[in-house]
Amino acid sequence: INSEQPYRTWYHFQPPKNWMNDPNGPMYYKGVYHFFYQYNPDGATFGKNMVWAHSVSKDLINWIHLNDAITPTCAGDINSCFSGSATILPGEKPVMLYTGIDEKRHQVQNLATPKNLSDPYLREWEKHPQNPLMTAPNEVEEREFRDPSTAWKGKDGKWRVIIGAQNGDEGKVILYKSDDFDTWIVDPNPFLVTEGTGVIECPDFFPVYINSTNGVDTSMENSSVRHVLKISYQRTHIDYYLIGKYVSDSDQEKFIPDEKYSGTWNDLRFDYGKFFASKSFFDYAKNRRILWAWVRETDSRQDDIEKGWAGLQAIPRKFWLDKSGKQLMQWPIEELEKLRDNQVSITGETLLTRSTLEVKGITASQVDVEVLFELPDLESAELLDPSEVDPQVLSSEQYASRKGVIGPFGLQALASEDQTERTTISFRIYRVVDRYICLMCSDMSRSSLRQGLDKTIYATIFDIDPSIKTISLRSLIDRSIIESFGDGGRACITSRAYPFYAIDRDAHLFVFNDGSQSVVISQLNAWSMKQAEFGTESII
Ligand code: FRU
Repeated sequence: INSEQPYRTWYHFQPPKNWMNDPNGPMYYKGVYHFFYQYNPDGATFGKNMVWAHSVSKDLINWIHLNDAITPTCAGDINSCFSGSATILPGEKPVMLYTGIDEKRHQVQNLATPKNLSDPYLREWEKHPQNPLMTAPNEVEEREFRDPSTAWKGKDGKWRVIIGAQNGDEGKVILYKSDDFDTWIVDPNPFLVTEGTGVIECPDFFPVYINSTNGVDTSMENSSVRHVLKISYQRTHIDYYLIGKYVSDSDQEKFIPDEKYSGTWNDLRFDYGKFFASKSFFDYAKNRRILWAWVRETDSRQDDIEKGWAGLQAIPRKFWLDKSGKQLMQWPIEELEKLRDNQVSITGETLLTRSTLEVKGITASQVDVEVLFELPDLESAELLDPSEVDPQVLSSEQYASRKGVIGPFGLQALASEDQTERTTISFRIYRVVDRYICLMCSDMSRSSLRQGLDKTIYATIFDIDPSIKTISLRSLIDRSIIESFGDGGRACITSRAYPFYAIDRDAHLFVFNDGSQSVVISQLNAWSMKQAEFGTESII
């Protein structure tokens, strides 16, 4: 089956077959992690009858697939059950708010609750008799009003939830309040409006600690936290987040972001590759906030039909506010390390200019690799004009073909033996007047000899401290996905690759340096990854 399905992953979440998109209602409940997702039971493309499929896990890595949890059954969701979120009400009662596509194809918000709270897997769900609980308010299009967030309690004791929406070219986040979770009143002031963007999908809103990497319950509101609003744009399939101040006083209710969404490369993103419709939850078992996200295919619709499946979920990430307060940091959950198998290491190896070193002794199609590079003196770095500081410009052919000084160096992943096929994950350091920046790329342009694939060069820029001596790169390579974490989770890029030759045992992993200055592999550890277990309870 491996050679027939070279792109099916070994340790990323996938249903046995068919189309999957957004993560829905992730939560930890009485010892079990629940994961729901947008699923088409009828095929490998987006469908007319979308449902909430459901899987459970003890560790967020090995899963049991259950029967579909929420499916079209009533007037308020007869044309699909779209995305939504979990809220755990007092008395440990989980509930799901989700979007239904109703008989008129309007988008409305519905509530579903578990039939039997003593079933630890919460296999069966029932719908609230008063559904829908929310219909599109004024100045929101009826067909663009969806994806309720996890609800939180304000200082006045009222529940709040936000919903994505559109009015013409305007993207909106709409706020509702409720005393009892049944009757919801729209707040006349939208929570956020962005001009010229089109619909906002899957809004997520939560606090993060200022001084801790721990997560915090969604309803926490005091001086130890800041708030984060995440939005997803359907037009570009990009997730952005804003960090800011939240006030829920009785006379005013607002989120004031430190920086507004600008529509430039400077806007904050969890990931600068393929990573969409993300959703977080507070894992109170381990006091952390975890992020899920859909990673879509970048091959063709016909390829998906032939494969019989489409869509992956990124490995769940723990995330927290950076010490600077200016961005979030992310790292794959520690449970993933249980799948690490035979380890190979390289220490203190110098990579001279234009050199390549193969990481041998691993199954390079499924690897977790961490490298710490020792940098030369930063003063030698190429000098840039501030106007050139743009990841799109710097990763373009014109700039990328110039010979580098400090970098590009990094990994050639899912590479053929002769490296004609390869995904290049690299760092390149520049000096801009009195500061230093690092360009991180995941270059898909040679990722496959196959035609008709998306071969974007994903890129991002981050500032680096002038006194840094080392920089780290971790990549999770899994057959058709590569998730890369630069500088300890400061910059993340996820990409999809569909190599023609570099599959199974013919995949290789290399470390390389193309800069004119040497860099040193101060430490490299790579682990072949075992397959995660996916069991199933039902006949799907
Ligand atoms: C985002 C999205 C959501 C919607 C769902 C439908 O990818 O378009 O807005 O609820 O997918 O599957």
